[in-house]
Amino acid sequence: MTPDDGEPAERSSADGLAERRGMNVEVYQPAEDSGLLAQAAVERSVSGTVLEVGTGSGWVAQQVDENTDARVVGSDLNPHACRQARERGVEVVRANLLAPFRDGALDAVLFNPPYLPTDPDNEWDDWMEHALSGGESGRELIDPFLDDVGRVLAPDGVVLLLVSSLTGYDAVVERAEANGFTVETAVQESYPFETLTVLALTE
Ligand SMILES: C[S@@+](CC[C@H](N)C(=O)[O-])C[C@H]1O[C@@H](n2cnc3c(N)ncnc32)[C@H](O)[C@@H]1O
Repeated sequence: MTPDDGEPAERSSADGLAERRGMNVEVYQPAEDSGLLAQAAVERSVSGTVLEVGTGSGWVAQQVDENTDARVVGSDLNPHACRQARERGVEVVRANLLAPFRDGALDAVLFNPPYLPTDPDNEWDDWMEHALSGGESGRELIDPFLDDVGRVLAPDGVVLLLVSSLTGYDAVVERAEANGFTVETAVQESYPFETLTVLALTE
């Protein structure tokens, strides 16, 4: 599944972060990682109530809504993203990760997180930074997400989580397993500077 509305953004290295910083945009636009996450959700035929955390432009949520039977909800911390996703027809909640969602309410949770490791001295306090930077480890959003996502999953629910080799694949798998998940690879693609994997986590 390839993002087809607008040029897919370059996602080849941590240098892409610097390049994107020069772009006057407030909302992450669909790129290769977005396409892989949408592909994994559609191939898995997610159903029931599905949340896409950090929906950005809403493109992934829209693909899943159009290509599965699921009721899809998007969420994002960025109010500009919430507005853009809503304009795409996505049902959107402004939220910090999973905070407002009820225990056991979701049949699937999708997340393409901010994951690029970033030097703390170079952090820019803008919305694109929030979309891209995973803090010093690259996992500063992924870790709390993994620690809480089991709470909101319904029995037999699934989590589809995008992971980059730049983020520390093994550390993400270990954290998921420590939270009681069984981890499988749903989709994987290699690019010149990173490998992107969508992990499927089940309890
Ligand atoms: C890499 S972008 C992915 C956007 C979109 N899902 C896609 O795949 O094209 C990460 C998204 O997570 C959002 N985000 C960052 N921190 C968040 C938080 N604490 N809670 C919810 N969303 C957050 C960002 O605003 C951004 O839209």
